[in-house]
Amino acid sequence: MTDATDTERPAASSGTFTIAATSDDPITVNRLGFGAMRITGDGVWGEPKDSDVARTVLRRAVELGVDFIDTADAYGPDVSENLIREALHPYDGLLIATKGALTRQGPNQWEPVGRPAYLRQCVLMSLRRLGVERIDLWQLHRIDPHVPAEEQFAAIAEFQREGLIRHVGLSEVTVADVEAARQHFEVVTVQNHYNVANRSSEELVDYCEREGIGFIPWYPLGGRDLAAPDSVVSQIAARIGATPGQVALAWLLQRSPVMLPIPGTGSVAHLEENCASALITLDDETVAELDRLATG
Ligand SMILES: NC(=O)c1ccc[n+]([C@@H]2O[C@H](COP(=O)([O-])OP(=O)(O)OC[C@H]3O[C@@H](n4cnc5c(N)ncnc54)[C@H](OP(=O)(O)O)[C@@H]3O)[C@@H](O)[C@H]2O)c1
Repeated sequence: MTDATDTERPAASSGTFTIAATSDDPITVNRLGFGAMRITGDGVWGEPKDSDVARTVLRRAVELGVDFIDTADAYGPDVSENLIREALHPYDGLLIATKGALTRQGPNQWEPVGRPAYLRQCVLMSLRRLGVERIDLWQLHRIDPHVPAEEQFAAIAEFQREGLIRHVGLSEVTVADVEAARQHFEVVTVQNHYNVANRSSEELVDYCEREGIGFIPWYPLGGRDLAAPDSVVSQIAARIGATPGQVALAWLLQRSPVMLPIPGTGSVAHLEENCASALITLDDETVAELDRLATG
């Protein structure tokens, strides 16, 4: 049954996940989070069209029960972290997860740099922009293929020992990468491209579930395609009286208890629609039908 509290704070109905559950410093969040990449300019470059709207989206997300927000120094760059600080500091009860190691050369251009000195700069600058003394969840945005992975992992372990970062996550990795990183620090989350149509990280999802690692699927809406009127889930959505985007998000939430979707939007209306997906329960037949949609 859906009561008034559910509809006012729908993201709180997505179930909870405890990050670093077996450590002495766990953090529990509502599973449906928010991705703060889309509150920047076109191509994730520069300021958004309207900064007031961006700050409103962030505050509305929290009102709707979101307590886990994903960002990165590279979003803007700097813009997303700055807006998060302006809208939400001091982050009472919120987990702000950021990332470092991707540099920007212009709209839609991204290059990894994993030299330890640069990774340290990423962490120190995110601390400054977010206005915190320690980053609760810092994610290595990409492993730089031009720098030995061991060097990058050793540097991150050092940041953690120094108290600059509380927990560590990885992004766009394989099971082997996670296992290599776990020799240096506890990996509490991984963030890979994954959604109802793109299952290339299926093995990693299963690994995370077995190991109690949070799995954060980026492009949960296929970067918009799954939420569009001609989405591959449109017919199912129409049948169950939901929107296509809500079906895509509800499928993710049901896929695994370690799944932490972070749909991104710069629109309050889309945010509200996305958060309401936490109130949808797909029956077994619908899940089976959606399972068959995988194209990759
Ligand atoms: N680790 C990585 O390498 C990586 C890569 C990409 C993204 N990410 C993270 O993952 C988050 C999610 O990915 P994403 O934002 O790229 O893609 P997404 O969540 O799959 O889709 C976002 C896109 O869909 C549109 N949208 C959102 N809700 C909608 C709705 N209800 N109806 C219609 N359109 C809707 C948004 O436009 P509007 O603004 O117009 O709503 C935006 O263009 C990002 O925000 C970021 O935090 C991480």
